[in-house]
Amino acid sequence: MPEKHTIIEPFRIRSVEPIRQTTREQREHALRVAHYNPFQLRASDVLIDLLTDSGTGALSVHQWAAMMQSDESYAGARSFFAFEEAVRDITGFRHVLPTHQGRAAERILFTATCTRDNVVPNNTHFDTTRANIEDRGAMAVDLPCSEGRHPRASYPFKGNIDLAALDEILGGSVRVPLVMLTITNNSGGGQPVSMANIRATSEMCRRHGIPFFLDACRFAENAWFIKLREPGYEDKTPLEIAREMFSYADGCTMSAKKDGMANIGGFLAMNDEELARRCRNNLILTEGFVTYGGLAGYDLEAVAVGLREALDADYLRYRIRSIEYLAEKLDRIGVPIVKPPGGHALYIDAKEMLPHIPPLEYPAWSLGCALYVEGGIRAVEIGSVMFGLHPDGSEQPARQELLRLAFPRRVYTQSHVDYVAEVLADVSRRAGMIRGLRIVDQPSALRHFTAHLAPAHGTLYAD
Ligand SMILES: Cc1ncc(COP(=O)(O)O)c(C=O)c1O
Repeated sequence: MPEKHTIIEPFRIRSVEPIRQTTREQREHALRVAHYNPFQLRASDVLIDLLTDSGTGALSVHQWAAMMQSDESYAGARSFFAFEEAVRDITGFRHVLPTHQGRAAERILFTATCTRDNVVPNNTHFDTTRANIEDRGAMAVDLPCSEGRHPRASYPFKGNIDLAALDEILGGSVRVPLVMLTITNNSGGGQPVSMANIRATSEMCRRHGIPFFLDACRFAENAWFIKLREPGYEDKTPLEIAREMFSYADGCTMSAKKDGMANIGGFLAMNDEELARRCRNNLILTEGFVTYGGLAGYDLEAVAVGLREALDADYLRYRIRSIEYLAEKLDRIGVPIVKPPGGHALYIDAKEMLPHIPPLEYPAWSLGCALYVEGGIRAVEIGSVMFGLHPDGSEQPARQELLRLAFPRRVYTQSHVDYVAEVLADVSRRAGMIRGLRIVDQPSALRHFTAHLAPAHGTLYAD
């Protein structure tokens, strides 16, 4: 059994893509040109890109083979039926609407269900989910369980929703068009949700007559954590666990750029026929015909194969282990991380690492800039730049200041991970010298993608 030896990458590399070394001076210059916003860097100036695990993975030979044989017909393409069959087989949902990515599925769902002043609860909304709900004039409410609020508290299912708080909202006077659970809970630290919590949420929603949807981006990683950590699931396959998770929900949104193992794609799936009809009309209006939804036939093929590959036990074992491996290294050198480590990413607690930087000088964002300058590694802030600006224009510190290192699927090897740990050790040694940032220019929503920042005190590092 593989557990006896080192858990290795369960693939060999057939096609390589060079990555470029840069000097510290070049990186300092690139960061200035990018207005201290890592989203604005050119990818060719980045050595190890941990900005996101979304759409950045490597395709398998089976995916390429299926893509070569795609059907590009406008309507009724064979590739759509392969896609639909894979989604139905895993989720069990009757209606499958392809979309170009997850946020398109969200927009279509919330357009069909949400009106002004509605409330949509979730364990923690992802930023595009929140923005799509707020765009409808509704309120996105985060209800993480109490363990999920403490970055360093070890608990197997920190992604769980707070059921008592949910019950209170569902029993109140506000209209709740649907309840969501994000598996795994990305913004809450990539933490899994237990089967017991999914089941209880489902039962509560049924009692109140409210539809229950999963944000299923990382359903396979969530299934693996259930297998590892929840009694009664150790002998079940990831597919069996995934099917049970979906069986409790009325539908899901999905970004196939994550556990669809594809570079682009997503879907909206559901059981309710009338809701599906309304969503299909919007799909045609904004994404494309119902059998392609803004995707090429070869994208549909890549997702159809990718969804099954994401549930492969050897792959999931390697995937979760590589994040855990980095977590162990960082723990040893005293870098404060969210515990236990997440499925697709590791989250550094910048509040603890840089306590001298006030929240509204964006400690996690500053840490991200320092990591790039030190070693050409790009990560993403999940903190006050991402979540601090409210629809009324006011600014408040976010609950947590995290720097997320998200790992593309099947892309980096163990020596890349070792390099990341070495650079972080250097950053950690100089943590006291890192200074805060200020926002110079920003849009009214989703500001982290395009905001311009500058050092709040002259330079990123104190001399
Ligand atoms: C939990 C979660 N939901 C939704 C999305 C949106 O998906 P997409 O980027 O495909 O629009 C993401 C993307 O990162 C996500 O992590």
